[in-house]
Amino acid sequence: MKKNLIVANWKMNLSLKDSKNRAREFATSITQLSERFKKNLPHIVICPSFSALSAVHTSVRATRGLVKVGSQDCFWDPQGAFTGEESPVFLRELGVEYIIVGHSERRMYLGETHDMIEKKIHSFVKEHTLIPILCVGEKKEDRASAKRTQVISRQILSAISSIRKHKPARPLVIAYEPVWAIGTGNPCTARDCARVNSLIKKILSSYLGTAYTAEWCRIIYGGSVSAKNIRDFVVEGISEGALVGGASLQAREFFHLIRSLL
Ligand code: 13P
Repeated sequence: MKKNLIVANWKMNLSLKDSKNRAREFATSITQLSERFKKNLPHIVICPSFSALSAVHTSVRATRGLVKVGSQDCFWDPQGAFTGEESPVFLRELGVEYIIVGHSERRMYLGETHDMIEKKIHSFVKEHTLIPILCVGEKKEDRASAKRTQVISRQILSAISSIRKHKPARPLVIAYEPVWAIGTGNPCTARDCARVNSLIKKILSSYLGTAYTAEWCRIIYGGSVSAKNIRDFVVEGISEGALVGGASLQAREFFHLIRSLL
């Protein structure tokens, strides 16, 4: 059985000093917890801002791989005249293993398009052995199910269009993050989440194949996840993990969220 995946997205919330301290505090608690629960611990990834990636990587090293580091974004090309962008190769050098791709905040504020997202997925999966966490989800006005199905299908199909033909044997994480549930304290219901997850699984299976989807794809949930509600999504087998914003910012709170899964 696949282990669950819990990803902390710190967004642009923590300074270098705070990131370092919180990662270190969290790493210490997880290391202690692992003495009792090592086999059951989920995969854990922390995604700090670019400026804190190296420091967070150093802070979690003592966990011996229990806690990994991810980036909140990355450019698709490895090198060149791309002012302000970060390279998948440079991020790999810093110890980054996961990349969040197409978060709704980037689609909304930075104009990230389907085409850009597709280039990133292609680059990370096929060329740079980085694990993409592709974020999909509908806005409030698309909530009626017909529109929702259309929005999510388009987001997934455009993102995976270039890997469809070659299907590299590399993991791909899809995070269902309904935009209206992000940062609102109002998560999707477990039932609704289950419905969307089966839609996502159906799309992946029909374009990548059932066996490939079962082996390489993992569907997680994000949007107002906390220690109080995470079991509704993860332990009940609805999602294979979670993408956590606000509740991952304090080391103790994030630790309790992980602890509540065991
Ligand atoms: P919240 O957990 O704060 O709702 O954020 C979710 C999110 O956007 C994670 O990527």
